[in-house]
Amino acid sequence: MKKIFLLSIALIVSNIILTSCNQSSKNKEMVKKENYGVHKGKEVYLFTLTNKSGNVLKLTNFGARITWIEIPDRAGKKENITFGFDTFDKMINGDVYFGSIVGRYANRIANGKFSLDGKEYSLAINNGKNSLHGGPGGWHSQVWNAEVPAKTTAPTVKFTYQSPDMEEGYPGNMNVEATYTWTDNNEIVIDYKCTTDKKTVLNITNHAYFNLHGAGNGDILDHQLVIKADKFVAVDSGLIPTGEFRPVAGTPFDFTTPHTVGERINADYDQLILGNGYDHTYIFNNKEEVDATVYEPVSGRFIEVLSDQPGVQFYCGNFLNGKSIGYGGKPYIKRSGLCLETGHYPDSPNHPDFPTTVLNPGETFTSQTIYRFSVK
Ligand code: GAL
Repeated sequence: MKKIFLLSIALIVSNIILTSCNQSSKNKEMVKKENYGVHKGKEVYLFTLTNKSGNVLKLTNFGARITWIEIPDRAGKKENITFGFDTFDKMINGDVYFGSIVGRYANRIANGKFSLDGKEYSLAINNGKNSLHGGPGGWHSQVWNAEVPAKTTAPTVKFTYQSPDMEEGYPGNMNVEATYTWTDNNEIVIDYKCTTDKKTVLNITNHAYFNLHGAGNGDILDHQLVIKADKFVAVDSGLIPTGEFRPVAGTPFDFTTPHTVGERINADYDQLILGNGYDHTYIFNNKEEVDATVYEPVSGRFIEVLSDQPGVQFYCGNFLNGKSIGYGGKPYIKRSGLCLETGHYPDSPNHPDFPTTVLNPGETFTSQTIYRFSVK
């Protein structure tokens, strides 16, 4: 009796070991790592993640970027729907933000200045008189460390970066993690984790551009958008918040029900004129699981965005001008891609009434954003 009992225990244990080995080896099989280039003396890799649905996500540790998202249309035809370049060389010389993780402070900080405990910090200026996306040497431009974790249920790559004290003017050494999981349900799950050794500010996001016709195939003006937000952050001509949280009701900014991006974009409305189109932070109502959706009726492709962050920057590619030549030699023209950058509001360090972006030593910032792809 005792022997049988011990035998069954041994069988159960070996099964557990076998299952976890299988899982980890399968995971390694689902993430292919290739040399991509060298930047600032560091190796840059391209990671190809294939999920159980047979769809491919590509990432690189240069800027911890998403470079390729292959999604079938209604008829099953696969197409890459995010912006990127044919080679690493072209990426280095092209638009700096495509698909990257942006920090230490995504979006703008007015005049590149903020204060913490009475001490003023001056940031690198790179957008008129303001600081944008962590400065020119922000996280999008760094070579991150990359790891393919052994035990995961879906293909996963974890990127880490040590942002040094006073990098681009920000205080504190910060340890940053951005982990991408490509689920079998065609979801990109991004898990962020940051710690600091000095009081600092933080706003981290991903800057992927989407075009559900396929990257480089025309504009996104026919994409139908929903953002579950009753208010947005009004801005001045430098795209700096005025402090007003404006209700969307009755304005071209109301995406609480589906509207195409193009439907009202040329309306004679102050915020559209100041923003050169939509380039604004929407304040999530945070009442439902899904915070935003994008639907493109020709292909049927559909994105759902889920986030625990207070808002999203909806940017519809107003500054794209065709100079960035993407995959297959296709130029990324004005409004040929849209971004839904989850995060905090711009210039929060200078607005004490905005949700705080301060991170203290001893605290751990964690956050998750999911982009879920399907067809309707
Ligand atoms: C967006 C921002 C735009 C523009 C773009 C980069 O996040 O809202 O104004 O700066 O990045 O070209």
